[in-house]
Order: sequence, then C-alpha cells, then structure tokens
Amino acid sequence: MTVLQRVRDAFADHYGRAPLWIASAPGRLNLIGEHTDYNDGFVLPMAIELRTAIAAAPNDSQNIVLHSEVAAETAVMDLSQPLLPEATGRWLNYPKGVVAGFVAAGHKPRGFDALIGSSVPMGGGLSSSAALEAAMATLLEAVCAVELDPVRKALLCQHAEHTYAGVPCGIMDPFISILGRRDQVLLLDCRSRETVWLPFEDPDVTVLMINTNVKHRLAAGAYARRRRQCEMAAQSLGVRSLREAGLEMLGRADGLDDTTRGCARHVITEIARTVQAAQCLRERDWAELGQLLDASHESLRHDYGVSCPELDAVVEIARAIGPRGGVFGCRLTGGGFGGCAMALIETPEAAAIRHEIGTEYQRRTGIAATMFASRPAEGARLSQA
Ligand code: GLA
Repeated sequence: MTVLQRVRDAFADHYGRAPLWIASAPGRLNLIGEHTDYNDGFVLPMAIELRTAIAAAPNDSQNIVLHSEVAAETAVMDLSQPLLPEATGRWLNYPKGVVAGFVAAGHKPRGFDALIGSSVPMGGGLSSSAALEAAMATLLEAVCAVELDPVRKALLCQHAEHTYAGVPCGIMDPFISILGRRDQVLLLDCRSRETVWLPFEDPDVTVLMINTNVKHRLAAGAYARRRRQCEMAAQSLGVRSLREAGLEMLGRADGLDDTTRGCARHVITEIARTVQAAQCLRERDWAELGQLLDASHESLRHDYGVSCPELDAVVEIARAIGPRGGVFGCRLTGGGFGGCAMALIETPEAAAIRHEIGTEYQRRTGIAATMFASRPAEGARLSQA
C-alpha cells in the first residue's frame, strides 16, 4: 500500500469521514554538491520514491488539527491566535512554520483536520523535514485556493525551517521536493536559481541509499557553525560567497585558521565536482561520476568534518567492493553526522552489493543498516482523495 492510500484510510479511521484532499511531497537524495547550496554553489539532487502525505478535510472551525502517524500524536493550531514556534525539535514546528508563512503572505487558511503519514525515514539525511513542509504547503494551496510560484513556495518552506525549526538550511531540499521530476536529476544553480534537468533513466545504473541508522546529536549545531565558517571565509577572501572564490585565491590568503581553510577548500572543490558530475550524467560516464562521488566523501570527511565512523564504514565497505563488484562510487549524502550514504551501482549487482554492505556494516558496527533504491521521482502534488 502506498503512503497516499495509507493516509486516506487512516484519515477515515481517525476522523470518521473521508478526506477531501491528499497532498504529498518526496524526500530527496543529493547526488553531489553537499554544503554548497548556502554558498551560492551548485547542487545535483533528485526527488525519491519515499513520500510524506497529508490527507485533510475542512472542519468548519478556526483550528487546524494535525494527527501525525509518525509521532503518534495530535496537535491543534488555533488560527485566531498568534502562531508561535514550539520547543526546539518538535515536529509541529515544520507544518506550523508553513502555515505562518501562508498567513504572513496574506492568505487566509480556514480550519481543517489532517492526518500525516510518511515513508521518508526521520533524521535519515533524506530531508523528511522538507517533505513535510512541501506537503503542507501543497495542502495549504488547496485550502486557500491559491497556487504559489514554485520558487516562492520553496522559499516559504525554507523560511519556516529557519524561523520555526531553527535550522539555517539552504534552498536545495524544499526546491527539489517541490519541483522534482520523474527520471530526471536537477542541476540547480543556487545563486541564480537557474534549473537544468538532466535525464537519469539508464536501467543498468541504480542509486542505492544506505541508512546507517545513526543520528549524531551534534548535527544541528555543527551545521550552523559550518555555515558561519563559510561566511567568515568568504569575508576574509573579500568575496560575496565562496562561489566566487577559487583555490588559487585560497592559497594566497593568509590569516585563515586550518578549519576555516578546510571548509573553504571543500566548498570550492565540491562546486567544481558538481559541475563535472552534471557533465558525466550527460555523457553517461558512470565510472567518472563514481570517482567524483568518492572524492566528495573524502572532502566532506577531511576538509569539512561532517562525516562520522558509521558513514565512513559504509563508504569503505562499498569501495572495497569497487567497480569490479559493481560499485562506481559512494559518499555520505545530506548534512552528515549520520543518516544516509549513497552508492552509484550497477543494477544487476544490486542484490550482492546490498548483502555485502549489510553484513559487513553489521559486523563492524553492530548496527543493522536499512537500504533502498530509488529512481528520480515526481515532486509535491495534490491528488484527488
Ligand atoms: C541539509 C540542508 C541543505 C544542505 C545539505 C547539505 O540537508 O537542509 O540545505 O545544505 O544539508 O548539502
């Protein structure tokens, strides 16, 4: 049963009537271009086949009633009261931030009952938060009978994450969750917001996600710190953002401490790798793309400092299998500090590769990894209930 069918049934069970709308939005996987979005760089994400879905119907009141299957909890937002952020870490901040964004933009949502379900793993680095925000924004478009420009909609979701969830994230996650296209990967220029869609439909090549099933607590604080370090590096180099910097410029600069220099080096080289990776996709040069993925992981691990032993273990195991065993390349994906790694693999070898990674990862860490493959999937949409 798909998550859309599940929320439809669960809504009927929970509220005793049928839903009117079902909005859904996917998680995302970033092929390459990590920690580049908030540096005005390039990213190369795709929407995945795992989705967050919200079934809803009007309730003739001033209340938005949200039942989350994931949190096993019901929360109420009173639209006649100011929509204040909840305590840090609370799931309600994501939908509430989106509702607040709609209200601030002059739209007037009426009360409704909703039930939220998801197949995107929480905290797995596949952007469960953007999926929830984008699904909520799509639902609110239906409730308010408006259609937002997709870029404005993505910015509204990003703003919700900044001001309600307290995470100073970039534009990538809501952007791809809203705009995602089946069988295509997005080369997004985060400076100009120009989008280039690249086909990714070779049945012989698969993207495998490997969830380490660990989530280190330092993630949120470390993300904000890295972002500040990048801004400091750009300032010292006299450029608006690290997108405008180059390795020669960095080499000539003095007065940067090693950590800041490492951060800048990662961002500068990762932006270049992302542009090269897009070219590999155009040429279907999987071997070269795999090498770029490997190099990205090394850079994230050593220069940017956002890997962790579990992610490194997955990458090491995948690399030991290598191109001869059908693994082109492997790297952490998303913010880091746990969550998922992704491997670009030969489809016919998928079962053997999954088995080897699963067994060896369990042996090394004592943790069972979860794995799934996905083709690029469609972005946020409203379905008839
Ligand atoms: C998180 C953020 C994104 C991006 C990635 C790292 O997923 O939400 O904006 O910065 O980390 O690439």
